[in-house]
Amino acid sequence: MTLKRVAQTGLAAGLLGILLFGGVASAADVSRGALLAAHCETCHGTGGKGATPNPAVSGMDVADMVDIMKAFASKEESSTMMYRHAQGYTDEELKLMAEYLKGK
Ligand code: HEC
Repeated sequence: MTLKRVAQTGLAAGLLGILLFGGVASAADVSRGALLAAHCETCHGTGGKGATPNPAVSGMDVADMVDIMKAFASKEESSTMMYRHAQGYTDEELKLMAEYLKGK
């Protein structure tokens, strides 16, 4: 390996390090709750603040939100759309998205 080649390799490794480090830092900035709730925001608006005709879901008590999501999923609470959008989440995921939306 020539000296020039070694220098180029070192530079490439350094740049890769910066890219990887930058990637990890920005992934940590976006919480899992925010990522999960991004789906909800498509109907309920940014931060779940409501987007006509869909109700606001921001600021709700975490336990109430988890309960209502489970009720939608089991059809105990009737809904036009939420039955479908409440499916497939673990208890932890429901809690994380409820915590994110509560803070909005
Ligand atoms: C396709 C649009 C859509 C998506 C996506 C959606 N919702 Fe809804 N949401 C609605 C509608 C419409 C209602 C009113 C009930 C119904 O008819 O389904 C509602 C009602 C609710 C309610 C009850 C609010 C109240 O005051 O009674 C909660 C809580 C809620 N949604 C949370 C969520 C969460 C959390 C997500 C993300 C997992 C989500 N929604 C995704 C459309 C949506």
